[in-house]
Amino acid sequence: MIKLDISKALVSAEKVASFESKVTEAQQALENGTCAGNDFVGWLHLPSSISAEFMTELQECAQTLRENCDTVVVAGIGGSYLGARAVIEALSNSFQWLTNNGENPTILFAGNNIGEDYLYELTEYLKGKKFGVLNISKSGTTTETALAFRLLKKQCEEQRGKEMAKKVIVAITDAKKGAARTCADKEGYTSFVIPDNVGGRFSVLTPVGLLPIAIAGFDIAKLVKGAADMELATAANIPFNENICAQYAAVRNALYQEGKKIEIMVNFQPKLHFMNEWWKQLYGESEGKDGKGIFTAAVDFSTDLHSMGQWIQEGERTIFETVVSIEEPEHKLLFPNDEENLDGLNFLAGKRVDEVNKMAELGTQLAHVDGGVPNMRLIVPRLDEYNLGQMIYFFEKACGISGLVLGVNPFNQPGVEAYKKNMFALLGKPGYEKETEAIKARLNG
Ligand code: PA5
Repeated sequence: MIKLDISKALVSAEKVASFESKVTEAQQALENGTCAGNDFVGWLHLPSSISAEFMTELQECAQTLRENCDTVVVAGIGGSYLGARAVIEALSNSFQWLTNNGENPTILFAGNNIGEDYLYELTEYLKGKKFGVLNISKSGTTTETALAFRLLKKQCEEQRGKEMAKKVIVAITDAKKGAARTCADKEGYTSFVIPDNVGGRFSVLTPVGLLPIAIAGFDIAKLVKGAADMELATAANIPFNENICAQYAAVRNALYQEGKKIEIMVNFQPKLHFMNEWWKQLYGESEGKDGKGIFTAAVDFSTDLHSMGQWIQEGERTIFETVVSIEEPEHKLLFPNDEENLDGLNFLAGKRVDEVNKMAELGTQLAHVDGGVPNMRLIVPRLDEYNLGQMIYFFEKACGISGLVLGVNPFNQPGVEAYKKNMFALLGKPGYEKETEAIKARLNG
């Protein structure tokens, strides 16, 4: 099982213990469905409730796309994209995942920006490809995703024919409402439902994440098993001191109270870059509201030790770090000997590259703690489906608890609407006439 080390969190045991009652209360409220946002806690017992039949249905759909596509484009944004990308990148060969190796389709992501060049270059890249599309949107009305889907649907139908397009376009959306649902029903696409009670950023263990991950060739049963084991290991009956979700939630809130307003998620494996991104959204969107919340930042080490390392070591002391530490890499590579030894590094010859990386990790931890940066470590035995499943559930549950302890509703995101309202007013969307007039007057005034 993955472990949490809080011994260098620079917060006293008494302070952490002082959060026990609040954390227990929050976890109980999650369990009883009495917490703020209680209509969005469907993720809590999701891993243990996914049936074997449902997994088979997902696998069969994944197989259809694997057999008929060399490339699959996942259209989605925020919670409808980051989890799938995080897991796929964490498990893929760093250099082969964008180039189809003949075994698994290449997975590409779109619908997560409005970059004209990005979309143009994507459509160019897809010319001549046997591609399929996953249209993922809970609301079914998100502009970024809808734009990409329009382009992809048209190109897929033109390139592959209407009949094949029907086979290789899949919708993952609400059971009844939204344009993605209407379109899927009208066109006869295979579709999967995002449960009403699971919000976007908590949806990676629904078809939102599971289908793309299965299409990429990874074992979703192991991923779900890892999550289910973590669900058990952090259940409400597990004592506070042994429950890593409770501990993480308590330490974060304790540090926040002591003026640590920024949490930096750290990895020492470049493959975890998108796990950082997924975590950033999960915690940032869940807690940043009502004028409160830890700002979530992320770095890839040792790369960013040569950029943000200076700030972390000596900048404003408002930060703490959470390091995801992978104990054992998947491959073995030794530091080479060099006869001339011009760089003076022969003292490392014969050592595993990972040993050097681990010493960079330890050295960084000691330096940052010396510099007044509290440090937590999530210790993960290996980067595989089972451990990623554990990590996903660990972060989700700790996030729910942490947000409730902070005193916010962790399951809504009212602030996301502000930019959309302005954008639609600026673009003159029908129904927004009043807002358009107001925003124009403001800009001219
Ligand atoms: O966590 C969330 O709810 C959001 O990040 C959504 O996932 C994101 O805005 C995309 O929404 P939708 O799935 O409705 O297109």
